[in-house]
Formats: sequence, C-alpha cells, structure tokens
Amino acid sequence: MRIFVAGATGAVGRPLVRALVSAGHSVAGPTRSAAKVEAIKRMGAEPVVADGLDAASIRTAVVSVRPEIIIHEMTDLGNVMDLRHFDRTFAATNALRTRGTDHLLAAAHEAGVKRFIAQSYCGWSFARTGGPVKTEADALDPDPPPEFRRTLQAIQHLERTVTSSADPDGIVLRYGAFYGPDTGMLAPAMIGQLRHRRVPLIGDGAGCWSFIHVDDAASATAAAIERGRAGNIYNIVDDEPAEVSEWLPALAGMLGAKPPLHVPAWIGRIVAGEHMVAMMTQVRAGSNAKAKRELGWHPAHSSWRFGFAEIARQSVARQVAA
Ligand SMILES: NC(=O)c1ccc[n+]([C@@H]2O[C@H](COP(=O)([O-])OP(=O)(O)OC[C@H]3O[C@@H](n4cnc5c(N)ncnc54)[C@H](OP(=O)(O)O)[C@@H]3O)[C@@H](O)[C@H]2O)c1
Repeated sequence: MRIFVAGATGAVGRPLVRALVSAGHSVAGPTRSAAKVEAIKRMGAEPVVADGLDAASIRTAVVSVRPEIIIHEMTDLGNVMDLRHFDRTFAATNALRTRGTDHLLAAAHEAGVKRFIAQSYCGWSFARTGGPVKTEADALDPDPPPEFRRTLQAIQHLERTVTSSADPDGIVLRYGAFYGPDTGMLAPAMIGQLRHRRVPLIGDGAGCWSFIHVDDAASATAAAIERGRAGNIYNIVDDEPAEVSEWLPALAGMLGAKPPLHVPAWIGRIVAGEHMVAMMTQVRAGSNAKAKRELGWHPAHSSWRFGFAEIARQSVARQVAA
C-alpha cells in the first residue's frame, strides 16, 4: 500500500516508517526541514518537504503522493519540557491536533485517501473518577485542572474530527506515555534528574499511568491499517498500568538512585501546580484489551518494568564506560 506518514521523522514516526517499509509498503514522509530529507531516504521512504500547519503546503504534498493511507503522528514538543506551564508547552502540538488535523484530513479527502489514522493520548485526559484503568468507552475529564484545558480541547477536537470522518474513514490511537529511543522519558537529562532526586513523589502517588515503548506504538499502528475498525478509538498501552508510587521508585532503583523524595500535595500544588499534583495523585491509566482483541496486537514490551530496566541497564553501562 502507499502510505503517507506525517511525523515520519518523530519518535514514533521513525520506527513506524521502518516497520511499514520492511512490510513492503511504499511510504512517503513529509518534513519541514530539508536537513531531514536524507534521514527519510535512509529509512527507505520518499521525502516530501511540507509544513502540516500550512494548508496549501500539506495539500500539495498529499495530492502529489496520492496515498491510500495517511497516518498523522505530528507533534511538536521540542526537547525541553516545561510541564508547569502545560498548555503553553503543548501549544504547537495542539495546533497540529486541531488545524494540522483539519488540513491533513481535507487533503486526504481531496486525494481519495481511504483511511486516516491519528495519534492521540491515553492517560491524564480520562475523567478522574471511578476505577484506575479506563476503556475507550469511558469518559474524558469533564473538569480538568485549568492548565490542561486547552490541551484537552485539542485532543477532543482531533478525536471527534477523525472518528466522525467517513471519506476517508478515521481511526484514533491513544498512545500511553512514550519511552524508548529518542523520547524524553529516560533521556539522559531525565535520568540525571532522577539520579539527583529532582523528581519527587507528590502526595500519595496514587495517579495511575500507562506506558508504551515507541516500537510497540509503531506495531499497533501498522496493525490498525489492516484491522482497525473505522470510526473507532484504541488505547495503545502496555499490559501493566502502574501507580506513580510504584513506577517512580522502581525506576529510581533500576538507575541505582536513592528513592525519590516525598513532597506533600499542598507543597506540590504551590511548586508545580494543581495539574502536576493531579498527574501524581489522581490520573487514570488505559486498558489495551480492545486493541489486543480487535487489532490482534500484543506489545513486545509487555510491561514498563522490563522496558525501563532495559534502558536503565544501557544507561548504567554507559556511565561505567565513561
Ligand atoms: N504519548 C506520548 O507520551 C508522547 C506523544 C508525543 C510526543 N512525546 C514525546 O515528546 C518528545 C518530543 O516530541 P516532539 O513532538 O518534539 O518530536 P517527535 O515526536 O520526535 O517528532 C515530531 C514529528 O512531527 C513533525 N512535525 C512537527 N511539526 C510539524 C509541522 N508543522 N509540519 C510537519 N511536520 C511536523 C516533525 O517533523 P519535522 O521536524 O521533520 O518537520 C516530526 O516528524 C519526545 O520525547 C516524544 O516521545 C510523547
């Protein structure tokens, strides 16, 4: 099949392009940067220079490629994550979720694309009531902390627009928190913060998280091309949702660091904001039962425990070698 991967040079785009090319698909990948053209060619895909926030530019790219499938993996979170000002940090990504989705979907319609698959998020966006692990049928947060509001609206715009599309049909993949090569999670900077105990456990740490290795996000996406049901949302997460009070100390231990410091919720609220306290104490995780059942997909990294340990071992080995 001919597949257009918007976000081909990104953390999940790269393993996805490699997986699609090795499965025999013909893949085209847009980038804003002429400097990344060679990287796309090296993955065996066809580069196109285009800006997903410029309707004319992305239209020209899509119409010239004439793909059967479009996959929207565009995000713009940069390297530095200021999570205290969450909506500000996510502003460019939110533009890609709203205007970027609209432009790409309009181009897809014009080019006769059959299926449109888009990246969404599985985690803090769920309603913070009821059980700790949510399905795709469960509600999103009707009253998010103020710092999450614009980002949640952008996520809802993307999900509504894509799942209601008929021509092309649309599928939304809600990925858990990414880890693996080229992600911020477990990048050297993050590992340094953990080793220096600068990532405290806030409150009771009862917030429940879902993780996904980027290679597993890529394999689920490839499965959704063939087996995803039109108009559906799938949680793409590993098998082991975990409370912060479990995964954060476990991760520190894997890195040979002392356990994280404890900070009461009221101090967390002052220092990091209400939304960060919610992330540590109230958020919900996702169930992957529907993705396993309908996509026939299973994450190779079934638990963050093994995935984190693998990365921690590599980091410790690098430290010893240095
Ligand atoms: N679920 C999650 O946990 C989650 C979700 C998203 C991101 N993240 C993390 O956030 C960190 C940084 O992510 P990131 O979003 O900066 O980088 P990224 O995921 O590595 O890549 C973003 C992709 O979007 C493309 N893109 C961005 N703006 C575009 C535009 N206007 N037009 C066309 N393409 C555009 C980029 O293409 P070019 O640069 O080639 O133009 C690139 O291919 C990573 O650690 C990532 O794992 C986590």
